[in-house]
Amino acid sequence: MPSLREQLPWTSAPIIVNAPMAGFAGGKLASAVTLAGGLGMIGGIFSVDDIRKELQIASEAFKSHPTLGSSRTLPVGVGFLTFVLKLEDVLPAVQKFKPAVVWLFASKSLDDYTEWAAAVRKVSPDSKIWIQVGSVTAALHVAKMAQPDVLCLQGADAGGHGFEKCAGIISLLPEASDALAQEGLSQISLVASGGIVDGRGVAAALTLGAQAVVMGTRFLASKEVNVHPGYQAAVLEAQDGGQITTRSKMFDQLRGPNIWPEMYDGRSLMVQSHKDYMNGMGLEEIQKLHGEAVSEDDKGFKAGLQGRAVMWAGTGVGLVKQVDSAKDIVESARRQAKEILEKVARL
Ligand SMILES: Cc1cc2nc3c(=O)[nH]c(=O)nc-3n(C[C@H](O)[C@H](O)[C@H](O)COP(=O)(O)O)c2cc1C
Repeated sequence: MPSLREQLPWTSAPIIVNAPMAGFAGGKLASAVTLAGGLGMIGGIFSVDDIRKELQIASEAFKSHPTLGSSRTLPVGVGFLTFVLKLEDVLPAVQKFKPAVVWLFASKSLDDYTEWAAAVRKVSPDSKIWIQVGSVTAALHVAKMAQPDVLCLQGADAGGHGFEKCAGIISLLPEASDALAQEGLSQISLVASGGIVDGRGVAAALTLGAQAVVMGTRFLASKEVNVHPGYQAAVLEAQDGGQITTRSKMFDQLRGPNIWPEMYDGRSLMVQSHKDYMNGMGLEEIQKLHGEAVSEDDKGFKAGLQGRAVMWAGTGVGLVKQVDSAKDIVESARRQAKEILEKVARL
């Protein structure tokens, strides 16, 4: 099995990936990350038409590039939330754009990935399959059944949705790596996500055995992300990530019944809706106030966590202090990680 760098030949080590954050990570962000030597990802949610538009934007961005414009696959990844999208709706877009990576996450049953992986490989044999999981058991099961090229081990610090029961990457990644090795499944590359926002986190993940790192929250403060200014301001303002964010299924009930599969919850900044919930306010009242807040001009995003709209963010949010270009984020994380690893190696 070729190494991750060989599979993604335009990348520089260590490989930095932006998370396929649905609605936030579009073609503009993905192409900027790829052009900086990372792996850019586009996040897809309900509409395949929107995903096509974003893939087209990325494709245009590479057109005049001497090598990326003519590569066999489109040098970005696209993420699908498999519990919301229908496989048959997604496949024509995959076949047309041939993304270098197809990222799968949040299936109703872990077995669903097997069908998705096989179908994607059939319509686009050069696309690599990446699947994000949050436990050792899931990593083993998915590795055996769906045979992905890459497993992304998502730790508890991650922003957005993840396994309700999960460990941080510091134990999750090595335990998953050992378990996979024991079953003869070491050919699957492992990448890490959850709480990584700079070169220090990148270096740590590499020493745990990751071959690449995925960052979501850090890219919420990038110039190319699609995010409401009030949400971005709250990310910059946040301090002390373990205190100011929390995991809860309540966030998925703000708009009505929770549609997420049972095993997932999500990490968000502790907005007013959550504070009210903890203080015993009934869900119906919280939903009513939320509905009113998101129809206002600021869409429910207010400074000082006074807003009611959910703002997905990981525990690394306290380290995110400024908005930078995706290029600067990727290059500085890469440079800092290398410097740290060299320094540590001298010890
Ligand atoms: C705003 C936001 C939206 C996200 N949306 C998705 C998504 O649509 N699909 C997905 O697979 N993961 C999604 N994630 C989770 C990421 O894949 C990744 O696990 C996470 O961002 C890593 O943790 P970090 O935010 O601490 O970097 C999202 C994360 C955030 C912060």
